[in-house]
Amino acid sequence: MNLIVAVDKNYGIGNNNDLLFNIKQDMQYFKEKTTGKIVVMGDKTLLSFPNSKPLKNRTNIVLSSDKNFNVEGAIVVRSLDELFAELCKYDSNDIYIIGGAFVYNTMLPYCSTAYVTKINSEKKADRSIIKIEELPNWYLKNQSETLTENDIEFSFCTYENTSPISFNYESVINFESIETKRLIIRKLQEKDIDDWYEMVSNDEVTKFMLFPKYTDIQQLKERYNFVQDNYKKNRLHDYFIELKENHKVIGTIGIVKYIKKARGQVEIGYLSNRDYWKNGYMTEALQAMIKYIFENTTINRICLKHDTANVASGRVMQKNNMKFEGTSRETSDTNYSDKSDIATYSILREEYFNNKNN
Ligand SMILES: NC(=O)c1ccc[n+]([C@@H]2O[C@H](COP(=O)([O-])OP(=O)(O)OC[C@H]3O[C@@H](n4cnc5c(N)ncnc54)[C@H](OP(=O)(O)O)[C@@H]3O)[C@@H](O)[C@H]2O)c1
Repeated sequence: MNLIVAVDKNYGIGNNNDLLFNIKQDMQYFKEKTTGKIVVMGDKTLLSFPNSKPLKNRTNIVLSSDKNFNVEGAIVVRSLDELFAELCKYDSNDIYIIGGAFVYNTMLPYCSTAYVTKINSEKKADRSIIKIEELPNWYLKNQSETLTENDIEFSFCTYENTSPISFNYESVINFESIETKRLIIRKLQEKDIDDWYEMVSNDEVTKFMLFPKYTDIQQLKERYNFVQDNYKKNRLHDYFIELKENHKVIGTIGIVKYIKKARGQVEIGYLSNRDYWKNGYMTEALQAMIKYIFENTTINRICLKHDTANVASGRVMQKNNMKFEGTSRETSDTNYSDKSDIATYSILREEYFNNKNN
């Protein structure tokens, strides 16, 4: 699958539902690449075309959640599931994602090639996309010489993705490891069991948890097999946080719930070794998880919950620009109370990319 886009210096792509620049050579390039192919767009992009009509000589697929949105000459799909079901009918090399911002940012992880017209200029933009060149999986394959039209300089760049995900991909989150400045977030290894036990046998660490503290390392040996089985079966994943400086596992962070409806949602849970609190490690780990999820899957909402008495846990969420949604009162049994108040924080895909681009 391919993506084709024109970006300004700041990766701005549009303003007031219109393009930022009108470059004839770029329009010609776009036409050459997409004629006879399948083009996928959001409803706003279709409405930005002349007379809001589909593009000629192409199969137009339009994503819209509006049940009343229908266009003669275009296939309208109402969800990503419907889109993927439709895309399965075509050769993925013939599919081009053509905008706008929401659709580019969602579909980028599925694309193997991105044709990016880079405009060496900047304009006020209310839509921008993720900077492809900053993503670890993407590399610049080739770039044309600098071209000029009406004093605007631009060049055609081709980026390739070394590990695109398949759109019939069922598992939501499944990576081997992510590295941050101080941490490696990775799958559980047998040698981690002692560090893991140190963490979950501690009263302070497990005080606000739903599960009782572990009192026998044998319990974790059994749990180890369960976690490995989950990895194999692509079920919810527990990840372990290794501190680079001493290779000790000092925390866990995992997907505790996945909900397919409403464009995909996950709930994350975490724990950290008592001796490593107040160093910002969990904030760093959560930041990496949020980045991974929004930049590599189509999940639309990430949420986390914490006992309101565990103020430090809430701070980790706040520092990651998550929004406080509210508190469910006396709703949970934790190890410290049988009527804990639980606060929920969340971040949406759109908020993540807006924060990243601003
Ligand atoms: N520079 C370029 O190369 C380029 C190319 C194309 C477009 N653009 C510009 O981009 C701007 C338009 O972009 P945009 O981000 O505002 O809009 P868009 O991506 O064209 O369309 C967004 C729409 O897609 C629908 N949608 C997205 N994901 C969906 C899902 N999973 N299920 C159902 N519907 C879904 C949304 O529906 P709901 O909101 O109803 O939920 C939303 O209305 C314009 O300024 C345009 O000129 C620039």
